[in-house]
Amino acid sequence: MDNQWDTFVLPILEAMRPASILEIGSEHGHQTKKLLAFAKAHGGVVHVIDPKPLYDVDAWQREHGDKLRFYREASLSALPRIEGLDLVLVDGDHNWYTVFNELALIEKHTAPDRALPLLLLHDVGWPYGRRDMYYDPEMIPAAYRKPYRRMGLEPGKSEPHAEAPINRELFNAVYENDLQNGVLTAAEDFVNGSKRDLNLLVVPGFFGLGLIVEGQRLRDGPELAAVVKELELAPRIRAHVEALETARLMEMSRLYLECERLELARRQVEQHAADLQQRLDRQAEQDQRQDAAIDEIEAASERERLAQRQITRLEEDLAVLKQALAKHQEMLRATSDAMVLLRRETARLNDEVFVKEQAHAAAQQAMRDIQRSRGFLTLRMVKALLGRDRMVEVLSAVAARSANGAGEHRAPFEKMVSRLLRLRQR
Ligand SMILES: C[S@@+](CC[C@H](N)C(=O)[O-])C[C@H]1O[C@@H](n2cnc3c(N)ncnc32)[C@H](O)[C@@H]1O
Repeated sequence: MDNQWDTFVLPILEAMRPASILEIGSEHGHQTKKLLAFAKAHGGVVHVIDPKPLYDVDAWQREHGDKLRFYREASLSALPRIEGLDLVLVDGDHNWYTVFNELALIEKHTAPDRALPLLLLHDVGWPYGRRDMYYDPEMIPAAYRKPYRRMGLEPGKSEPHAEAPINRELFNAVYENDLQNGVLTAAEDFVNGSKRDLNLLVVPGFFGLGLIVEGQRLRDGPELAAVVKELELAPRIRAHVEALETARLMEMSRLYLECERLELARRQVEQHAADLQQRLDRQAEQDQRQDAAIDEIEAASERERLAQRQITRLEEDLAVLKQALAKHQEMLRATSDAMVLLRRETARLNDEVFVKEQAHAAAQQAMRDIQRSRGFLTLRMVKALLGRDRMVEVLSAVAARSANGAGEHRAPFEKMVSRLLRLRQR
């Protein structure tokens, strides 16, 4: 009903200034929020019935205080406790049984001397104007529950089917346009069955908006009457708007299918992207392994380079050593030759020494012979000078002084000889 807020709901609210509003079916609370803002600005309370609201009602309750009266239950159980309503927006369970009984209960709990609240009903056009939908089929008595399927609807097609794009998740009646079927049928049956002077207006577009208003309320409220008057469409304009709505529904249906196709494509793309990502991850892992292998190869190459450098250095060292070795071998050879020569020279020197020693020994012998002969000559000379006796005497004295050989007493002998010579001269 959010689409009709500015064009219909708000103008009616402004014309009526209702003290007590009821919204049946709140869902995300889009319209509830606007109703509460209106009540805050202009006074009044907002009753809301929804067994499964899709927002945090407690938080809203804290925010809006007693402006908000929330009933977390089905409309048919809550309605008997709500009285004194001025305006009711009916947008809950979209089936004949629920809507007819909601309207009947509202009427029942409206004092006879009081005008029926103005009733605004959403979804009086296609698809639920002439077809039931059940949020919870078990809540509907079997006698009123139409055969239904949890399948989508498609404009121009009578029965719900699996590929139809609209409201697939809901339980849709299999047939339309029969008795006690749909929201608009419920509104018509209620108006026709009421003893009150009720008017039903249907504004096509955005699934259709129905308005039920009692004649008395229009007579008492000229401003409201003026707004309601504006909702009455000339037949050609109505046909035109209905055609627009049909076109909109066809387009919506096409867009839903297109969205579905795109969603499928998106999922496929996502799957494809996930597959690609997996392949990329695997490739990245492989690259990492390759990088690690390349690092290892590079490290091995570096080690090889170092080893090669070391080999080169060792080869250079080896070449130097080989050169030195060759030099030493050369020196060794030269030294061996020299040793041979030295040995030969040594042998020669030994021979020479031997010869010299022989010569020396011979010389010594000759010396000894010379000395001996000189000793003899000296003795002869002493004998000649002293006479034999005196010489024996002197020699005896000399022998007495020393027990050693004549050689060691040469000096005393010579001294003695020279003294003897001096004596002879005197
Ligand atoms: C179409 S949505 C209402 C949308 C809302 N009026 C808006 O304009 O934003 C219908 C809501 O009615 C509620 N609902 C279903 N069965 C109901 C019942 N028996 N009584 C009251 N609300 C009901 C659902 O829980 C759902 O939130």
